[in-house]
Amino acid sequence: MLFFNKKKKNESKNFLEMIDKNKIPKHIAIIMDGNGRWAKQRNLPRTFGHKAGVETIREIVKACSELGVKYLTLYAFSTENWKRPSEEVNALMNLLVEYLRSEVQELHKNNVVVNSIGDISKLPLICQEELKNAYEKTKDNTGLVLNLALNYGGRDEIKNAVIKIAQLIKENKIDIEDINEELISSNLYTANMPDPDLLIRPSGEYRLSNFLLWQVAYTEFWYSNIYWPEFNREHLYRAIYDYQNRDRRFGGIK
Ligand code: FPP
Repeated sequence: MLFFNKKKKNESKNFLEMIDKNKIPKHIAIIMDGNGRWAKQRNLPRTFGHKAGVETIREIVKACSELGVKYLTLYAFSTENWKRPSEEVNALMNLLVEYLRSEVQELHKNNVVVNSIGDISKLPLICQEELKNAYEKTKDNTGLVLNLALNYGGRDEIKNAVIKIAQLIKENKIDIEDINEELISSNLYTANMPDPDLLIRPSGEYRLSNFLLWQVAYTEFWYSNIYWPEFNREHLYRAIYDYQNRDRRFGGIK
């Protein structure tokens, strides 16, 4: 586990140089935590923290795209986040719309696919429309797939997969014996995507918070005490460098 606050520019540059460009993680997942505490430290409303968090999203998406990461999954709104005051929920939904409207052109130019995971049918209609527009515009791109996890919960996702599979059995389309790990994976929001190689959680918390519960079975975790609005591409390089120096055995022996 690594803790650090500020990196000197030349030190961080080294991490980029030290990264093996042939071993870039295919799928990086990030729990974008600490926006509220970042704002509180500055006596600002929590929503300012989320706004600052969007700037970090811009930088990290660009950095992942440049490095050749294939999938970036960002935990933007969980199934539990509805418990927050309605002003904060509304602010987050507005930020999503603003982000998609202002960024889709640039993302498209950078060959990024804008995708979402989670039950987006419960989001305000305007969010659903902007997500659909962004996906339609970018779906044929071949670069980074940006997965925005929205109204996403790992347990909800697994429950939905169980329902879908039970339905297939009820309709005699499959037998109970056909249930295996691949079938379950293919009924999740992340169907056809590789499991995350690396999960990053800033802000000093060590929880999964209902994120990608099934998919992180053999994911490497990386934590730092930096709040998300202060997280930058140099922290990302450090996380990737550390990841590349882990010994991934997937339960086997080398
Ligand atoms: C967690 O920090 C962050 C969130 C619940 C929301 C993350 C959303 C954004 C960064 C911006 C909106 C998203 C998009 C895709 C434009 P927290 O509020 O729980 O922080 P705290 O633990 O310090 O209170």
